[in-house]
Amino acid sequence: MKKKLAAVLFLAATFHMNAQQQKDQKMDAFVSSLMNRMTLEEKIGQMNLPSEGDIITGLGSNTNIAAKIRKGLVGGMFNIKGVQKIKEIQKIAVEESRLKIPLLFGMDVIHGYETVFPIPLGIACTWDMKAIEESARIAAKEASADGISWTFSPMVDIARDPRWGRVSEGSGEDPYLGGQIAKAMIRGYQGKDNTFSEKFNILACVKHFALYGAGEAGRDYNTADMSHIRMYNEYFYPYKAAVEQGVASVMASFNVVDAVPAHANKWLLTDVLRKEWGFEGFTVADYGGVGEIVNHGLGNLKESSAAALNAGLDMDMVSEGFLNTLPASIKEGKVDIAKIDQACRRVLEAKYKLGLFKYPYKFCDTKRAQKEIYTNENRAVARKTAAESFVLLKNQGNILPLSKAKTIAVVGPMGDTKSNMVGTWSVAAKLDQPLTLVEGLRQTAGSKANIIYAKGSNLLSDQIMQKNATMFGRDIPWDNRTEDELIAEALNAASKADVIVAAMGESSEMSGESSSRTDIGIPPVQKRVLEQLLATGKPVVLVLFAGRPMTLVWEQENVPAILNVWFGGSEAAQAIGDVVFGDVNPGGKLVSTFPRSVAQIPLYYNHLNTGRPASDKGFEKFRSNYMDEKNAPLYPFGFGLSYTTFQYSPVTLSATEMRGDQTITASVNIKNTGSKDGAETVQLYVRDMAGSISRPVKELKGFEKIFLKAGESKTVKFVVTQEMLKFYNTALDFVSEPGEFQIMIGSSSNDVQTASINLK
Ligand code: BGC
Repeated sequence: MKKKLAAVLFLAATFHMNAQQQKDQKMDAFVSSLMNRMTLEEKIGQMNLPSEGDIITGLGSNTNIAAKIRKGLVGGMFNIKGVQKIKEIQKIAVEESRLKIPLLFGMDVIHGYETVFPIPLGIACTWDMKAIEESARIAAKEASADGISWTFSPMVDIARDPRWGRVSEGSGEDPYLGGQIAKAMIRGYQGKDNTFSEKFNILACVKHFALYGAGEAGRDYNTADMSHIRMYNEYFYPYKAAVEQGVASVMASFNVVDAVPAHANKWLLTDVLRKEWGFEGFTVADYGGVGEIVNHGLGNLKESSAAALNAGLDMDMVSEGFLNTLPASIKEGKVDIAKIDQACRRVLEAKYKLGLFKYPYKFCDTKRAQKEIYTNENRAVARKTAAESFVLLKNQGNILPLSKAKTIAVVGPMGDTKSNMVGTWSVAAKLDQPLTLVEGLRQTAGSKANIIYAKGSNLLSDQIMQKNATMFGRDIPWDNRTEDELIAEALNAASKADVIVAAMGESSEMSGESSSRTDIGIPPVQKRVLEQLLATGKPVVLVLFAGRPMTLVWEQENVPAILNVWFGGSEAAQAIGDVVFGDVNPGGKLVSTFPRSVAQIPLYYNHLNTGRPASDKGFEKFRSNYMDEKNAPLYPFGFGLSYTTFQYSPVTLSATEMRGDQTITASVNIKNTGSKDGAETVQLYVRDMAGSISRPVKELKGFEKIFLKAGESKTVKFVVTQEMLKFYNTALDFVSEPGEFQIMIGSSSNDVQTASINLK
């Protein structure tokens, strides 16, 4: 009787269970039964992510991987390119290992696969969440067609230091914008509902948790140290937003946080990530990160591996510290078997959700690779997105756009390179595919243009430095001619031209991982050519290649037009042509402050006020300012010009007071007052005028990208909610406090219309 009742109750409970709970139960049962059959070594094997192959992105690599796969000692592999190769490796796991558990195949699919989109810092400047989501979707489509089931993206580390090379790989300095971008990318990779129902949905991995962008002095892998209140208010949101979006995995960062390496930081990996934010996926080490705990000084590899596992790290990348030391640590009672079970379960759950147990060859359909990668359709989207990412920094006398019926001299080492166009962190790109800038301009200008080229200079004045700046096949061959000879050739080309396009700046590998720089200007050897070109008196347009904010005070003063094209991806050259010749009106807006001088760094728009803010009139004694430099940046966050102009009306408010759950609508009217159609990103900033802690002078809380035909106007409305007015207080509670708030709407962080509201 009792049994019957229990059965009825069970049935009733199942009936009331929603579909998701039922799915979860099925998964639990499947994974539990699999784990019941696994040995300790096999469980640890699932937590092992070795690397062996053509794409090495860190120190060291692994050996004898096939043998390890056969023994069930590998959970996944990464950075292998080619579906055929991946299929063969998957076959070893699925047909030759005891439990036939399929492998995950990860890759750094950072801004596209073979169809490459702009570097993340560039694509962020589109402020176009649909385009960003689409770029991730196309990346997932191509990567999944080539065997990849997991991307190590998005990288969401807030960066306020452009010396750091990996500033190129993130979305800039603003946490709110970074969070929106993280969500858009995860939707693109994993699909909107995280069910992985489309054949091209792959696992995403948010990285690097946490504070990797805050390394001291902009030096990669360096110490990060800050108050918890700053972490919560200024650095954590993009990671949290990724978790809210359902990101499948989280990668630990190389730096320490509170003096504990992130890889062994229980507060980060367990207390914040899981307990506070409710993350349910798996965590993974960065390249060799478990082994590096030894260098951080927490003990030998065995101790470091135990510390990482105990902190909440589930998967070890490359170090093989888990594989080689955890069995002994278990015996010695240094780690609990329950921790291993938990980590192994999380990895198996990811495989289950992806559908790999049912379809181990889900991503190994070799026919897809031929049809779905680098298609004309994908490339057309990449071209459009690249043009949208460019930021027009200066356009004196409307030099741009250029007429197509002219002789144009392209001068500079960046004018004639294919391999550098895609930008850093594009491991799947075919480097001979992109057009050079000259080829792109010729193609977009058509037959009426006469486009000639001269190199002008080497990339850098030192041959060894140039080699370091052109690694990974991003060659710019060293030119043995003297500087004078190269300049003479450039001036000769310039003398024949109506207009000069200076293709200068950084090569793609001058930013990215381990590419920190102390001088972030255009290299002097190139700048000398620019000076000579300007001295000819001919109009000069600087097409700036940059993987970071650069110092450009001299260029801003002397060069009539500057178009910052970042690294636009595989279709960059055509996209530059589209903008330079005016077929596309540029509308990109900076997501990272451009300082006037390296000495101002860190410089960011959302800073706190000081007790002695600088005056508008220049240097004043006993104020927070420099004797020899302004406080202001050269180009502020949110800034970017257009071939047209926009006029903003004052802000109107639906009310000036609001209580708890009420909202206020803030509106502005924007008019395209120029003669060209164009896009404008309208930005909403908020300032809390008096709080229990000092609050930033402004913080981005909303934005809307609109398109206006010449002469057209539109009203943009933002709904101000209490949520937007909240912050983490001293107790780290997320609260809003009554009082005055300034509501600012405008075209950049330093060009706004302001109104005030009161929160009751
Ligand atoms: C980088 C990661 C990357 C990993 C795997 C590391 O060096 O920091 O961002 O995902 O390598 O290639």
